[in-house]
Amino acid sequence: HDVERARSIEELRRMAMRRIPNFCREYLEGGAEDEVTLRRNRSVFEGWAFLPRTLVDVTRRVRSVDLFGQPIASPFLIGPTGFNGMLTRRGDLALARAAAAAGIPFTLSNVSNTALEDIADKAGGRLWMQVYLYRSRRFVHDIAKRAERAGFEALIVTTDLPAYGNREWDARNFRSGARLTLRNLIDTACHPRWLCDVFLPDGMPRFRNLGDLLPPGKDHAAGASAILARELDPSLNWQDIAWLRDLWPGKLIVKGILDPHDAEQARHFGVDGVILSNHGGRQLDGAISPMEILPDVAALLKGHVAVLIDGGFRRGSDIVKARALGADAVLLGRATLYGLAAGGEKGAARAIHLLTQEVDRVLALLGCTDIRNLGPEVLRPVFNSIS
Ligand code: FNR
Repeated sequence: HDVERARSIEELRRMAMRRIPNFCREYLEGGAEDEVTLRRNRSVFEGWAFLPRTLVDVTRRVRSVDLFGQPIASPFLIGPTGFNGMLTRRGDLALARAAAAAGIPFTLSNVSNTALEDIADKAGGRLWMQVYLYRSRRFVHDIAKRAERAGFEALIVTTDLPAYGNREWDARNFRSGARLTLRNLIDTACHPRWLCDVFLPDGMPRFRNLGDLLPPGKDHAAGASAILARELDPSLNWQDIAWLRDLWPGKLIVKGILDPHDAEQARHFGVDGVILSNHGGRQLDGAISPMEILPDVAALLKGHVAVLIDGGFRRGSDIVKARALGADAVLLGRATLYGLAAGGEKGAARAIHLLTQEVDRVLALLGCTDIRNLGPEVLRPVFNSIS
């Protein structure tokens, strides 16, 4: 399939779903439990309608925004997702290169299949590193030091995993190791392009940034999930953020904020940014959507701490709505992964291109010449339409 023919993220998603086997599809698409929050992350955008201004000269339009004192080409960046190497060969590198070419930052997950040093060497661009807080603080310390040496700009600490979310597909596919059931074998054989691209050259992709957190022989995507879940530290608390603040000289960003009190705490502990996030609906099912608390958090933090957001962004109009309600920028999760799974670096670049064009077109249709001037006055809540 030629990704250049895809006209929307949804079309890239459909291409991706045809290309990858079922256990990859479930990993990419799945949420926790009944996926109420996963669905809410999409339907929430229908709760606001635009009030476009007309007869405005929109010949010139600015869609670039400032993030930590430097411009990014579009008001979004690539968020952290693990196992990218399972979707396409060298997935992390492909995604990082597409981001660098488009002038937007890329975040590498700590459960990734490419060493962070390789990303810095071979992709360039603005790089952010994401960590979980494992019981082994030495691991967290070491990965922060490695990222610092490699020139990463920001460290994201994801705080919404004091326990692993209840993802039934995860227990089925990844907890008990690779089970080559007949059904799995047949399904995988039916996806020869994935087989030739990912599995046959290298086998199941290995984790390259976890050091000795995983025992030898267990460091691949099929076997590690249960161990990682065990290593997560349920005692993580704000003192750990103070510890990281001392340890990490670059930008420190807390990911997984869903309550304005926590946003205030983050400011108190001297972080540079927060990411409003429910982990793409993969942790607490029934949790609120980040868009619903964005106005409150923006009111508290704007001008002091960068306000970032993720969850369900699939259209340029979604991104413009978040900007209008006070977000500095949006993190993309599945949107760019669909491109990646559909066609590697080209597919990821196509996803970024489509969203860039959509943001630009929405600005024109709104009668807005500069995205930095957008405020909540372009939106009207229409809560009756949330499905
Ligand atoms: C994630 N997410 C995630 N977050 C994180 O901090 N570290 C990680 O390793 C991962 N891994 C991961 C894998 C996959 C396949 C998905 C879909 C998500 C959560 C991610 O950063 C982000 O919060 C959500 O993906 C945002 O929602 P959307 O854009 O995917 O709807």
